Amino acid sequence: MKIVIRESSEVLSALIAERFINLIKSKPNCVLGLATGSSPIKTYQGIIKAYQEGEISFSNVHSYNLDEYLNFPRESDSYAYFMKENLFSHVDMNLANAHFPNPSDPEAYDALIKQDPVDLQILGIGADGHIGFNEPGTSFDSKTHITPLTEQTIKDNARFFPSIDMVPTKAVTMGLSTILKAKSIVLIATGAGKVEAINALLTKEDETCPASILLRHNDVTLYLDKEAAKDILNKDIPGVTFDR
Ligand code: GLP
Repeated sequence: MKIVIRESSEVLSALIAERFINLIKSKPNCVLGLATGSSPIKTYQGIIKAYQEGEISFSNVHSYNLDEYLNFPRESDSYAYFMKENLFSHVDMNLANAHFPNPSDPEAYDALIKQDPVDLQILGIGADGHIGFNEPGTSFDSKTHITPLTEQTIKDNARFFPSIDMVPTKAVTMGLSTILKAKSIVLIATGAGKVEAINALLTKEDETCPASILLRHNDVTLYLDKEAAKDILNKDIPGVTFDR
């Protein structure tokens, strides 16, 4: 595992955007694993800028989003809508190539991804260590599935809804084993609210911290700001290469 630590989310997002841009340039028909939440938004803005400047085209890119809410109150609360707003409608993405898990047949997503493996997956992380919507206690062997959301996640995501009782209580998410199939994975975490999740991720592989499954993968980079990396600023961790 590699950990990149920088002062601001702007710098981290630019570094991650560069990875996506380079991938799309070198492999125009690449497969992207995409995430929602506030963490990837600036990365998407960097990618959009490269498209607008004529550096890249999405016309042959495929994408697989991590997750989608069930029973979202308004169309604009869906993650499919989020992706249109924050990326797809600003680039020449063919929406037929943009995939989301289907709650009526979750495991079909694993079969699809097996045939069309993700080259680069971007992840955020929940305060409780969730990735996608794989909440603490989810099996490391999990495939795409429907899951209830924890109280913590519902509270954390309430900022995107008019009131907490409008936050969906269930979602369909890529499983942990599904996420781990991506060839390369980048995770961005910023702010003091992510310190515990990052510390737990780095402690040991344990299903109580879903993101700790990333310790098993041979091409993962964590992009952390100084707040999220507060406890590891001067630490050496076996098996981890630092860029700080
Ligand atoms: C949601 C998403 C996750 C995301 C997390 C963190 O729960 N399903 O994929 O990583 O929020 O969100 P944020 O980046 O806004 O902190």
